[in-house]
Amino acid sequence: MNRTFTMIKPDATSKGYTGAILDQIMKAGFTVKAMKWTKLTVEQAGQFYEVHKERPFYGELVAFMSSGPIVAAILEKDNAVADFRKLIGATNPAQAEEGTIRKNFAASMGENAVHGSDSDENAQIEGNFFFAATERF
Ligand code: RTP
Ligand code: MG
Repeated sequence: MNRTFTMIKPDATSKGYTGAILDQIMKAGFTVKAMKWTKLTVEQAGQFYEVHKERPFYGELVAFMSSGPIVAAILEKDNAVADFRKLIGATNPAQAEEGTIRKNFAASMGENAVHGSDSDENAQIEGNFFFAATERF
C-alpha cells in the first residue's frame, strides 16, 4: 500500500462539491488515513507551494489557496500517487479526461478543484505539513 496527499481546493468547497468529490475518491478505492476541514493562511499557502515560488502564477495560486476553506487528506491505495493523479486528471480541466475529478468539478487551470501529490516523497512532506502522528488512523 502507498499513500498520497490531497486537498479539495477553495473553489470546490465553496461550490458545495466536497461530498461528491470525496465520494468519487472513495469509490475509486482510496482509503482515508487522515482528514481535516481547514483554511490556509497566506503564509501557509506560500510555504506549501514554495516549489512554485519563481513561477508567474505563484502569487495568484497563494491568494486562491488561502481564499477559503479546504479539505486536506492522506489517502491510501496501491500505487496511490499515480492512480490519484489519473483520477484527478490534467492540471488544466479543459484537457482533463472525461470522468476525472477536474473534468467533473474544475472551472479553470487556476481553480482546479483538487490537489494531488506528484511523488511518494512529496506525499510524505505534504501529509506532514497538515497532520500529526496522532491524527492518522
Ligand atoms: P496540484 O499541485 O495542485 O495538484 O496541481 P498540478 O500538480 O496538476 O500542477 P502544478 O504544476 O503543481 O501547479 C500547481 C497549481 O498551480 C496552478 N497553476 N496555474 N496559470 C497557470 O499557468 C498555472 N499553472 C499551474 C494550478 O492551480 C495548479 O494546480
Ligand atoms: Mg503539483
